[in-house]
Amino acid sequence: MIVTIDGVAASGKSSVASGVARALGIPYVSSGFLYRAATLLALEAGLPPSDPAPLLALLRGRPLRLEPLAGGNRVWQGERDLTPGLHSSRVDAGVSAVARLPEVRAWVDEELRALPEPFVAEGRDMGTNVFPHADAKFYLTASPRVRAERRAQERGEDAGTVEAALIERDRRDAAQSAPAPDARVIDTGPLTLEGVIGAVLAALPA
Ligand code: C5P
Repeated sequence: MIVTIDGVAASGKSSVASGVARALGIPYVSSGFLYRAATLLALEAGLPPSDPAPLLALLRGRPLRLEPLAGGNRVWQGERDLTPGLHSSRVDAGVSAVARLPEVRAWVDEELRALPEPFVAEGRDMGTNVFPHADAKFYLTASPRVRAERRAQERGEDAGTVEAALIERDRRDAAQSAPAPDARVIDTGPLTLEGVIGAVLAALPA
């Protein structure tokens, strides 16, 4: 079984996917972690996002491993755990440009499709491109203000600055962020996390 949970930045995808996966007793897969890991490695190596060839060589030369645990994903490069560096503002600012590269998208899709079912997959295009035949599809939205307030609280940052960065990332990610036509759209603004998880679980096929 595959359940997809897509949505805009900071719409609560990871927390919802993790909660749904725990309730079902299966792992969840965060596709954004792979885009973030590719971005971190590109930044560290000083690679320009306009040239995918050296980045792909790097990703294929020292393969990454996504560990899809129910409580939170981790990304490994050999013995190195890349996870602690994946959610910095620097990676946030650079990730959309890296995620726009078709070669990087193909690499991520290949990694994801190699994972054993069942799982809950969250991202931007899980229900459209990567798992079009998923058993159930969801798309989470919320206003930029609501999302910024949640994220600012998590990271101890200023809500206005976070909101501006989120709006900019939404704009850059728009091409890969459309809901699947058969996805159930949930506005998470008025709901608690438990409320969203409950709504997803209630809509799953028996
Ligand atoms: O989900 P998260 O916000 O961590 O994703 C980080 C970035 O990775 C997004 O802003 C987007 O650029 C990219 N991404 C994507 N397609 C996905 C998941 C993430 O393009 N399926």
